[in-house]
Amino acid sequence: MIIALDGPAASGKGTLGRRLAEEYGLVHLDTGALYRAVARDVLAAGNDPADSAAAARAARNLDRETLDDPVLRTAETGAAASVVSTHPDVRQALLNYQRAIAATPGGAILDGRDIGTVVCPDADVKLFVTASPEERARRRHAELAEADNGQNFDEVLADVRDRDERDRNRSQSPLKPADDAHLLDTTYLGIEAAFKAAVELIDAVSG
Ligand code: C5P
Repeated sequence: MIIALDGPAASGKGTLGRRLAEEYGLVHLDTGALYRAVARDVLAAGNDPADSAAAARAARNLDRETLDDPVLRTAETGAAASVVSTHPDVRQALLNYQRAIAATPGGAILDGRDIGTVVCPDADVKLFVTASPEERARRRHAELAEADNGQNFDEVLADVRDRDERDRNRSQSPLKPADDAHLLDTTYLGIEAAFKAAVELIDAVSG
């Protein structure tokens, strides 16, 4: 079974992806971490995330063993990730790896922005997870406070809105629900309730 889990920044899809992977015995890939790792490498080399050639080079040379680097979780890396992800050559360089993970025997769950639309258009189940920008900023702010404590709530909210704007309006693989995706709004759902709702949807769809 392949599950595609898409949605905007801090919608809860990462946590949901991990829980669902455990529940169904699937490999889990947080595809945002790939774009964050490319952004980290671009910044570390002193390059501009808007420089498409530098970003594509970083994507082609990405060391996939470094996807749990804590630096990936900082606000700076997240903002740069949303810039490097606008370059078609970066997206292309990361596509085969994502599809290889999706093809893992036994199945996989991938979370991101374009899994149901581009990476795995034939996924067995597609979920599009949303929450209001304010609720997502609240979650991201709590997360960042633990990691780098660098931003106040209003800055995090502005950042969430900026990223939504960039992710939705880019020409390549914009953030949008696939036609056959099931919408899951987690604004008023805690993680446990969101998990239960997702399991019900998946069980209903996959029989
Ligand atoms: O999900 P996360 O916030 O970690 O993603 C970081 C950035 O990577 C997003 O803002 C988005 O621009 C980009 N991304 C993407 N396609 C994906 C996953 C993430 O463009 N499948």
